[in-house]
Amino acid sequence: MDTFFEQSLLLIYSSVILFLLHYIHKSISRPKTPTETTNSGTPKSYPLIGSLLDFIKNRSRFIDWTTEILLATPTNTILLRRPGMDPMVITANPSNVKHILMTNFDRYPKGELFTSHLRAVFGQVMFILNGEPWKDQRRIAVHEFSSTTFCNCAVNIIAQETHTMLIPILERASRMNHVLDLQEIFERFMFNILSRLMFSEDPGALKASPLVPLHMEGEEVLNIGSERRFKDSISIIHKNLERIMQTRLIETRGVSKDDIISRFIDHGDATVDYLRDIGIGFLLAGTDTTVSSLTWFFWILSSNPRVEKQIVEEVEAVRAKHSKNPGETFNFKEIREMHYLHAAITESMRLYPPVPFNVKTCSSDDVLPDGTLVKKGWNVLYNAFAMGTMEKIWGNDCLEYKPERWLEDGIFQQQSPFRYPIFNAGPRMCAGKDLAYIQIKLIVASMIERFVIEVQDDHMQPEKILSLTLLMKGGLPVKVRERCSEFKN
Ligand code: HEM
Repeated sequence: MDTFFEQSLLLIYSSVILFLLHYIHKSISRPKTPTETTNSGTPKSYPLIGSLLDFIKNRSRFIDWTTEILLATPTNTILLRRPGMDPMVITANPSNVKHILMTNFDRYPKGELFTSHLRAVFGQVMFILNGEPWKDQRRIAVHEFSSTTFCNCAVNIIAQETHTMLIPILERASRMNHVLDLQEIFERFMFNILSRLMFSEDPGALKASPLVPLHMEGEEVLNIGSERRFKDSISIIHKNLERIMQTRLIETRGVSKDDIISRFIDHGDATVDYLRDIGIGFLLAGTDTTVSSLTWFFWILSSNPRVEKQIVEEVEAVRAKHSKNPGETFNFKEIREMHYLHAAITESMRLYPPVPFNVKTCSSDDVLPDGTLVKKGWNVLYNAFAMGTMEKIWGNDCLEYKPERWLEDGIFQQQSPFRYPIFNAGPRMCAGKDLAYIQIKLIVASMIERFVIEVQDDHMQPEKILSLTLLMKGGLPVKVRERCSEFKN
């Protein structure tokens, strides 16, 4: 079992990187006739080669590079011209984001360029499907995720995993004064939780984790993920998930369990392949996104002791209000009372969005609200990272980490998802958003009450991995210290 889950983690991690490189490679080599009329800005562009030189120079810092250009462009929309191909529209303009994600949703499906590679690797996973197959899966997922029974069950599982697996690792690291890669720990941990929520399987991935884990750089991941090993990993993950699903199909018919896969078995004639693809899809959608959010959150918190103090006070206040003993876990209702923590997590994802960009393909000629012409077949990408740092959206303190901007009289206030498309927006908004907040809040509350997380080299800006999710190159080395009374003065 361990091999399966170790391989699965590796596969998920490396596949998004491979996908991105594949995607970028395809987008600079796909032959198409360019037709373009636009009022938008562009990166430096030359006859015949378009923006290729700049693109190659900046491809390892694609997110930062496009952000710099978007912020300097009046409409916050640019065209990336590639030789002999369609331009790619890149936008950070909330009106355009609303247009592609909601108002003109049907005109901007998941395009073949985005889906073909992932489909070949993973099968019919939900977030690459269009049309009826997507609608069917989404209906079941949204219904399940919004049920109170599921939320309560999720809280129990997350709390149990936190206290039996995560906290003991942190305790040990604190006792032995070891450096941990927090990102790597979160990867294993979130994978555990997702496996239990999805199909009641406990992979025990954390139990196998050494105290000072190996961490993988992007290049190492790519080496390890070389063709043969990559195929082996896919084959292992497929075989094991098929085995799990086969057993579940026999066991679950007529006997409902409290996990997500049971809901898909309950609805209609589920096959092993269908359930396997759903399983992989949810593991992909829910693991690295929450890992990214947690990792950047602890990094940003390490240089914001004022915010840390407020969170600790809020967690302690909720504990006191409900007369809970130290170490006793919080329930769903209590977690929802932590508005400051909710704001602090939301604010950290504004500056470091777990999914920094998202791409759609235009299915018929169109004009975006800012006047940009988009032709059929062109890809339109929104850059959530750029949007998080725009003065136009967040005001002149846009670069400051300020959870208070999300609070009114201490109560968390939502912002328009078109200004803050961290969970996507419109009909395809993240199906696991509420679950993600429950997970992250519960984990942070449990960790922060008990430990101080000391980021090593906290003044260094971590390097971003070129991936679909915003992970840190080299992980996040931390030391862990038992919290003393320093915040109680
Ligand atoms: C902080 C954590 C998370 C963030 C920032 C996030 C963000 C996103 C984004 C941006 C999308 C749109 C992707 C696209 O259209 O290509 C998405 C879709 C999705 N997410 Fe999440 N996600 C998070 C956690 C989760 C979790 C924990 C789950 C559940 C296991 C989940 C399940 C899904 C699903 C099923 C979709 C596909 C929705 C659809 O296509 O209709 N997500 N998420």
